[in-house]
Amino acid sequence: MPRDAAGHLTPGRLSPARVVPAHIARPEYVGKAAPTPARGDRYTPEEVERIRAAGRIAAQAVEAVGAALRPGITTDELDRVAHEYLVAHDAYPSTLGYRGYPKSCCTSLNEVICHGIPDDTVLETGDLVNIDITAYRDGMHGDLNRTFVVGGLEAAAPAARELVERTEEALRRGIQAVRPGRPVNVIGRAIESYARRFGYGVVRDYTGHGVGRAFHSGLVIPHYDAAPAHAEPLEAGMVFTIEPMLTLGTPEHPGTEEWDLWADDWTVVTRDLSLTAQFEHTLVVTESGADILTLP
Ligand code: MF3
Ligand code: CO
Ligand code: CO
Repeated sequence: MPRDAAGHLTPGRLSPARVVPAHIARPEYVGKAAPTPARGDRYTPEEVERIRAAGRIAAQAVEAVGAALRPGITTDELDRVAHEYLVAHDAYPSTLGYRGYPKSCCTSLNEVICHGIPDDTVLETGDLVNIDITAYRDGMHGDLNRTFVVGGLEAAAPAARELVERTEEALRRGIQAVRPGRPVNVIGRAIESYARRFGYGVVRDYTGHGVGRAFHSGLVIPHYDAAPAHAEPLEAGMVFTIEPMLTLGTPEHPGTEEWDLWADDWTVVTRDLSLTAQFEHTLVVTESGADILTLP
């Protein structure tokens, strides 16, 4: 429902809280103001398989939401699809109750960079909609997102469609850059150098992160070239996300990295309200590269 006269998004109404069956284990932060800091970003092969199991459920939930997308549906109805998929597979929706976040996924449309809260916003043909889902099962979180176009890629204007396709390619290039012994900052360098070819902005203040036992471990993975910062070496067995957020620029106006936060304290929008897209995977560093843990 809520858009202003220019078609930009405005805050909507939230539905009542969704319930998670009692037999599903909660992450430690639920019911608290903030998580207890948990360090450690390396995992045994057995632990990696538990993250992969959680990540697979999250990826299948993203697919289920993608199959439900149509003009006229609300982002709250998408949240219900995500919630029901996760709990039906004995997973807890990690965002629900994380630092007070009220819903089971994030739905970020058009100028929303990330952390859009599902509400009574109605999807329209050609909207860019990012679905970000994290599943917690067997003590581990798996986190991914992808950007869809409502009505299919062809429903978007060419520039919007290219932004979506190239953001996915930027994630692919970030993953390709991963190798044990290389510095963390090779990932952002690969992403930023690709994005800049098209004049896109690269959001700097939201980053990839260590994930597994904790939803956000404290390990930071920038999506821009942070050198000489973040020279710490990638190590086999490390698990983290890569989740670039790119913004649409034009030859006259390069894409922005500037953002504003809505009064809900979650919704992050581009300052110039230009379009933005994001893709995310959780991965483990292997002896030869990276293994994606959030595939369906
Ligand atoms: N899944 C998001 C990420 O990629 C985090 C969402 S936190 C929330 O890191 F509280 F906004 F849901
Ligand atoms: Co993440
Ligand atoms: Co995420």
